[in-house]
Formats: sequence, C-alpha cells, structure tokens
Amino acid sequence: MAENVKIVYEGKTYEFPIIVGSEGEKGIDISKLRQITGLITLDPGYANTGSCTSSITFMDGEKGILRYRGIPVEQLAEHSSFIETAYLLINGRLPTREELDHVSALFNDNSLVHEDMQIFYQNFPRGSHPMGILSSMVNALRSFYPELQTIEEEINITVIRLLSKVRTMAAMSYRISRGHKVVYPRPDLKYCANFLNMMFDTPVKPYQVDDILEKALNVFWILHADHEQNCSTSAVRLVGSGRVNLYAAISAGIAALWGPLHGGANQAVIEMLTDIQKDGGNYMRAVARAKDKKDPFRLMGFGHRVYKAYDPRARIMKKMCHRILDKLSFDDPLLDLAKELEEVALKDDYFIDHNLYPNVDFYSGIVLRAMGIPTNMFTVMFAIGRFPGWIAQWKECSDDPNWRLGRPRQIYIGPEKKQYIPIDQR
Ligand code: CMC
Repeated sequence: MAENVKIVYEGKTYEFPIIVGSEGEKGIDISKLRQITGLITLDPGYANTGSCTSSITFMDGEKGILRYRGIPVEQLAEHSSFIETAYLLINGRLPTREELDHVSALFNDNSLVHEDMQIFYQNFPRGSHPMGILSSMVNALRSFYPELQTIEEEINITVIRLLSKVRTMAAMSYRISRGHKVVYPRPDLKYCANFLNMMFDTPVKPYQVDDILEKALNVFWILHADHEQNCSTSAVRLVGSGRVNLYAAISAGIAALWGPLHGGANQAVIEMLTDIQKDGGNYMRAVARAKDKKDPFRLMGFGHRVYKAYDPRARIMKKMCHRILDKLSFDDPLLDLAKELEEVALKDDYFIDHNLYPNVDFYSGIVLRAMGIPTNMFTVMFAIGRFPGWIAQWKECSDDPNWRLGRPRQIYIGPEKKQYIPIDQR
C-alpha cells in the first residue's frame, strides 16, 4: 500500500492518497484538494498533471517504451496490420480471424462518401490546407448521418464509418485539389492498399500497389495509432467530456494535431531539410540556430515532452526508411541530410543536456515522400493513423461512470475590480 502524501498549509495537515498504476507509475490524487483546502494546483502545459486513468496505452519516456493494451509497439509494427491494431486499441483485445474479416467487410460497406460532399471539397479555395479541410469534413459527417436510436448501435457504426471513410475523404481531397477525378474504394483491396490506390491510380497509369509501400503504410499508421494523453487526444477527451458527438470530438482532435509542435512537425521537418538543402546543405547553421536562445528556430523532429531517452517509434521509422529507399532504389538527398543532422545533434552538448533525440516525425516524412505523398498531406497521414487512438480514448471516457465535464481552473492575474467608464468620459 502506498503511503498518503501530506500537505501542510496554514498550520493544518491534509492527506492525499497515492494512486499506483499497473506499471508502478504513481500519482497524488488531488481531486478533493480544492474542496478541503481551497487551493488549486498550477501546472502550465499539464506536464505533471494526470487528467485520467486509462488502460489503453502505456509509455515510459525514460526507458523509451510504448505499448498498446500491453503489447509492445515493436511487435505490432513487425507482425500486425493497422486494422488489427485499431481493433486492439478500440476493443481492448486482439480480434479473432472471424472478427477481423467481419470488420473488413464492414469497412467495405461503409467506405463510400456521400456524393454531395464532393461539392464541399470542390468549393474550398485552392491552396486550402488539407488538415483544415479534413477537420471540417469530419465534423460535417454528422449532418449526413443523423443519430441512431440506440447508443451502442450509434457508436459502433460511427466508429466503422469514421475509420473507413477517413481514407476515402483524404484521398478525395488530394485528387480534387489536383483537378483529378476521384477514385472510388475497391472492395478487393486491403485498407492501406486501397488508400494508396485511391490516391495514385490514373487511367493513364494504373497503380500497382507495391508490397513494401503497403507494409510501410501499415507500420506508419500503427506507430501513430495512439500516444496516451498528448495534445490532440486531450482535445478529443476534453471536447468529448461535454458529451458532444464522436464526429465533433474527432474533428477537434484533427485541429489540435495540425500544429507544428505536434502532428504538423512531420511537414515542418521536410520543409526544414529542404531549406537546409537550399542553403547549400549547411546543417551546422541549423544546429547553431536551434541552440541560440534569441532565435525562435527549433530543430523540427527533435525533442518530446515524454521521451527523454529515445522515441521507440523513431527507431522503427528510421529502419523502415532505409528498407523502402533500398527496395525502391530511391535516392533521397534529404535522407543523407537527415542522417548527418542527427549525427551532429546527438553528439552536441546542448542536445545531450536537453535530452533532445529524434522523434517519430524526423524520419516519417522521408517515408511518406518515398510513397509519393505530397508534403502538405503529411499531417493528414498522421491524423488517419491517430483515429483509432482518439476513438478508443473517447470511448473510454464516455464509458466511465465517474467521468466529469473537463473544466480546468486558473489563477487570475488581471486587474482588480474597477468601475465601467462610459465611452464619452474616457
Ligand atoms: N530544438 C531546439 N531546442 C529545443 C527543441 C528543439 N527541437 N525542443 C526543445 N528544445 C529546448 C527548449 O528550447 C527548452 O530549452 P531551455 O530549457 O534551455 O529553455 C528545452 O528544450 C525544453 O523545451 P520545452 O519546449 O519546454 O519542452 P517540451 O517538453 O514542452 O517540448 C516539444 C516538447 C516536442 C514541443 C519540443 O521538443 C519541440 O518543439 N520539438 C520540435 C517540434 C517537434 O518535433 N514536434 C513533434 C513531437 S513528436 C510528435 C507528437 O507525438 O506530437
């Protein structure tokens, strides 16, 4: 039994229980803190705040561990498919073959997007960012699929719709942005192959799905499938806590993921590497800028709030990057630049002292480039991968009988009470 934690305040001692997780993680339960002491905690960026207990994903930033429902991500990346991993995250266990076949059949039945939605896509101004479009369109799905009678039926079909339609919607957005005809999903293709075909098939050059690219996409999406209480997942939980529908909660997650400090980093890495290349490959200048406190520039794809040793996803992604480029005999000068930059940064005192290592986004952009995915779609690719995690986390909080409306407090530091002055007397 863990001991209680004591807080002494204004001469009184208050005790708070310690909560111990299944992997030995400990936290002080301060849920009664304000009620009994009148105090709140202040924790900008929530770096020390647990917002929930969860049985979905375990990560240990010091040891570089990531597990979904107990299974190491390395094993899932090696042996599983994205859809099997999605099932695991959402349902809490691996599916049987029959269950997986059943889910695949449901994906096929629900893969089409309402034709009226094409009008929306066509009317977004050219050059709109695909993340803005995806967030809006996922939210718009609610209008096309009104609520069903029973809650369970509603949730089950919404989960299938979201997972199946997101790849059709993402590919549709890309095709329309290029002025090309939309390619419909094919029931004979698996999830990842189907997406690649919808992106790249043309009447002039029918697309042949390469095994290595299909595997790479499965791995990419498995590695992104969940990451416990990160920025976008917390957005999904917080928005969901108001009992909003699942489409709206996921749409909020997409918006949160868009930022360059979060999911947008994969796009930012390629842009940074391209800039360095244009600068004659002078990566030392980028390293010097990243270390200069007066310069807001950061080395994109480096650092993580939780991983302070190594991001295990980055290790798998780097290996995958080499496999793809070797197999396709694809020579990407940005990969050479990335390797040189990583080597220098890993030996540099600033990066060592700050525990800054490459994160998943450092190599994922090069993998996506090899697949032919345009840079402005990189964060959409991350978002598709994160759908199972967002859904699992939303379900977990919706099913929790003790779940409360998310509503943090603040310490107010603005002006004290003052009188309103009418406009002509100011
Ligand atoms: N380049 C240079 N310095 C950095 C970097 C970086 N990429 N990341 C952090 N630092 C420094 C920062 O300047 C600060 O220095 P000091 O203590 O001397 O003032 C210190 O490290 C701590 O920074 P922080 O912003 O307080 O750390 P954090 O844990 O809040 O930040 C992070 C995590 C991911 C926002 C940050 O490392 C970063 O901005 N990285 C670049 C963007 C990026 O690659 N994001 C993708 C994250 S992985 C995908 C995902 O899971 O979302």
